[in-house]
Amino acid sequence: MMTVSAPGKIHISGEHSVVYGKPALLAAVDKRIRVTITPLNDNTIKYKDINSGKQTVSHFAEIQQRTLETKSVFAKASSDRRFGVFRQSEKNPWTLHKIAIGETYQFLNRKPKSGFSLSLYSEIPIGSGMGSSAATSAAIIGAIFCLEQETWDLQTINKIVYEAEKRVHGLPSGADNTTIVHGGLLRFPSKTVTPPGTIPPFILIQSGKPIETTGEMVANVRAKYNEKKETFKALFSQTEAITEQIIKAFETSAFENFYSLIQENQRLLEKMGVVSERAKRIIRRVESIGGAAKICGAGGKKKGSGIILAFHPQIKMLEQALKKEQIPYFCSSLTNKGLIREDI
Ligand code: MEV
Repeated sequence: MMTVSAPGKIHISGEHSVVYGKPALLAAVDKRIRVTITPLNDNTIKYKDINSGKQTVSHFAEIQQRTLETKSVFAKASSDRRFGVFRQSEKNPWTLHKIAIGETYQFLNRKPKSGFSLSLYSEIPIGSGMGSSAATSAAIIGAIFCLEQETWDLQTINKIVYEAEKRVHGLPSGADNTTIVHGGLLRFPSKTVTPPGTIPPFILIQSGKPIETTGEMVANVRAKYNEKKETFKALFSQTEAITEQIIKAFETSAFENFYSLIQENQRLLEKMGVVSERAKRIIRRVESIGGAAKICGAGGKKKGSGIILAFHPQIKMLEQALKKEQIPYFCSSLTNKGLIREDI
């Protein structure tokens, strides 16, 4: 029995525009998913999700078949640049797990030595902008590397996680998986940022789980970009300029303009059409009491937009306001721990 864990991430700046080659700043956080793998005497693959209590069983042949199917769907979608096809696959609770397993064995170019069971427990809110899918894939792939006694090489594992991410999201930038696998604060692409001093205090507010998946939100922005290329190119370039200034602030610990930069980043995300009315209301409320906030990740338009990353010079004051208005939030901090083997 072996346990592997992976962190969630926050997007400090640059989500969506990063899909179009612009930079982003992300950080791994101390909410993790843990996957325990146990070899079995038969050839079944068993899954248990501790959070939901759900479990299922499959066979490797079915996983192989599914992996080949999703690969060909992906190849077709890539050539047509129509990534809307990924909407449904992401909603089946076990698709991601099976894709992660299938992609790993395809990469290793062999079948599992024996059956195995996977037990998953996650502190990362699912589908809410904190990289739950990349973290789940990373932890499953890492667990298989342990089971199969493969060399623990994070760059190799990250490549497989990125393949799995493409099968479920269509056209991800690779920023989520890279941050989650390596940990720390990352300018994507691709350098580690080490702030010389403390960073502005933040909390994470729940604006509600988005109805839309990440794949869907990325596809929605792509459709709007295709319709209004010049407008969206300008939005991405403005986001790039803000992201570079935010990165500079973290590199030098000079945060004088930081709040207005976060606010501008948020307004640009609103113009991209990825923020719901509910999330906007919460963000305006944070601003009205002297803070700055933005959605974090793909967002959501119809109902919730997932996690809101909220900065405030006096976090206690922000917490009091949120409590009074019964808006759920939680505290978190950055971590350098990416994908790790827990028992080593
Ligand atoms: C999702 O967490 C972040 C997006 O920028 C998509 C991506 O980078 O692949 C919306």
